[in-house]
Amino acid sequence: MGAGGGEHALAQARAHPGVGLIACEVYVNGICSLLSALVPEGGEASAPLPPNLRLWDADARDLIRALPDGCLERLFLLFPDPWPKARHAKRRFVHPAYLPEIARVLHKGGEWRIASDDPTYQEWTAEVLAAQTLFDAPPPADARPEGWPPTRYEAKALAAGRTPLYWAARKKQG
Ligand SMILES: C[S@@+](CC[C@H](N)C(=O)[O-])C[C@H]1O[C@@H](n2cnc3c(N)ncnc32)[C@H](O)[C@@H]1O
Repeated sequence: MGAGGGEHALAQARAHPGVGLIACEVYVNGICSLLSALVPEGGEASAPLPPNLRLWDADARDLIRALPDGCLERLFLLFPDPWPKARHAKRRFVHPAYLPEIARVLHKGGEWRIASDDPTYQEWTAEVLAAQTLFDAPPPADARPEGWPPTRYEAKALAAGRTPLYWAARKKQG
């Protein structure tokens, strides 16, 4: 959700060729950036996506709504737009009203990865996860866990001296 330039999706697709991935990005420049990363240097004008990677170039919510129950093993929400003003909080993907929809599309035991460098979103995420019963959500890590390829936005946050937090919430089995 919000794949940006797609570095993370591409790295995951390459690291796990047997696993299907969908990169969702609504902003056309992000999609262009992902597609340009696929063109071999000095090479052809276009190159195919890795066979296990699909692009959804529209609102991620429309895709989530269309997915069947329990179809995802992992869902990545990396450095989402923070919508820092309280009156915009309903647009956040991490939201009490949206959690059941996220849980619906995940397998039991499926993982929802969330990263944010924004203090307001960090605090909000901690509060929302503490108040819900759909996911087991241990406290976040303050360093990128192994197996989480870096993203462009994360690099910018680190360069600016911000400290990202990384949550791995697991959908409860029961
Ligand atoms: C702060 S950027 C982070 C991008 C990337 N995950 C990274 O870490 O570099 C957030 C991205 O989410 C995208 N986005 C925001 N709302 C979206 C939505 N509803 N559906 C799909 N993409 C969305 C934005 O266009 C933007 O590229």
